Amino acid sequence: EQIEKGGYEHFMLKEIYEQPQVIKDTYRGRLLADQGIIKLGGLEDHIHRFINAPRVTIVACGTSWHAGLVAEYIFEDWARIPVEVEYASEFRYRNPVISEKDVIIAISQSGETADTLAAIKLAKQRGAFVYGVCNVVGSSISRETDSGSYTHAGPEIGVASTKAFTTQITVLTMIALRLAQAKGTISTRDYMLHLRELELVPTYVSEALEGDGKIQEIANVFKDAANFLYLGRGYNFPVALEGALKLKEISYIHAEGYPAAEMKHGPIALIDEQMPVVVIAVNSNHYEKVVSNIEEIKARKGKIIAVVTEGDTTVKELADYIMEVPQIPEALTPLVTTIPLQLLSYHIALMLGRNVDQPRNLAKSVTVE
Ligand code: G6P
Repeated sequence: EQIEKGGYEHFMLKEIYEQPQVIKDTYRGRLLADQGIIKLGGLEDHIHRFINAPRVTIVACGTSWHAGLVAEYIFEDWARIPVEVEYASEFRYRNPVISEKDVIIAISQSGETADTLAAIKLAKQRGAFVYGVCNVVGSSISRETDSGSYTHAGPEIGVASTKAFTTQITVLTMIALRLAQAKGTISTRDYMLHLRELELVPTYVSEALEGDGKIQEIANVFKDAANFLYLGRGYNFPVALEGALKLKEISYIHAEGYPAAEMKHGPIALIDEQMPVVVIAVNSNHYEKVVSNIEEIKARKGKIIAVVTEGDTTVKELADYIMEVPQIPEALTPLVTTIPLQLLSYHIALMLGRNVDQPRNLAKSVTVE
């Protein structure tokens, strides 16, 4: 087992550090940035299903559901296709309005999640076209779907998903870009820019990982907190949810993720000097608004841990602690903002003596209802 961990103390840490490589593995041979080409075999064969679909419904559970939420923002923004993201467990029992023209994307690391599999079967019965984004080759979901694209994350052993999430986002981003190109809903300039930036993501992720030492110090300050709040907007709202989930899963500290603007409708009542608030405040269209959210938290004496773009000065002055990530086009930011949140959870769990790779009550793959 020590050999499998490749010198890392835990599988989770190894998998966090593998992300630059596995993101590269996921786009290798599929993304030819110089030529402006995205080649996803499973997609090309059925691209008209996507183009003619009235909407795309994404079904998934857990962390994969969060990847689906990121995809919703990207698909709608670039490809102008309406997207709904559903918990597979709700979808399967809700008598959903699905017919032959619908396209379903099922996202699953293991490819074995019972609820996701059942959702796929239901959608197929109603004539929908089902596309899989799975990590495990030959898994039940990859066999049950009409077509799909694998993520190339390699085996993920840590129960809390890390590299599967970022490779899912990588695949979904490529699908969205290709559809936007096919539909003509993106300018050639933006298309090329995003292709080139996607190729640089492994480098950006490596840079984000360099913050590890500082994140460890932040973990040490907040490890005894009873609650955490995670806030983000736009593309980084799902990242806030994922950050909170990661902390809950492995440290057993209660954490909630919220869209930053919703804070005023409830969570703000929780803020006092005991409450750490992790705010994703990278350069984006929402930057100013997030800054005012931070000011509101500060006015109530909450402790602010902010994920910021390198070189940021405004938030740096306001926040108690910052975790820096490189500058990257907004739609791609989830791929880097996720990294410090994974590390923060890991270090807190470790300091609390939790079983990081196999947290209590959780399973890597939930094959029963
Ligand atoms: C379990 C795992 C999670 C995972 C979820 C969905 O709860 O502990 O890490 O996100 O299942 O799994 P899937 O294999 O379908 O992505």
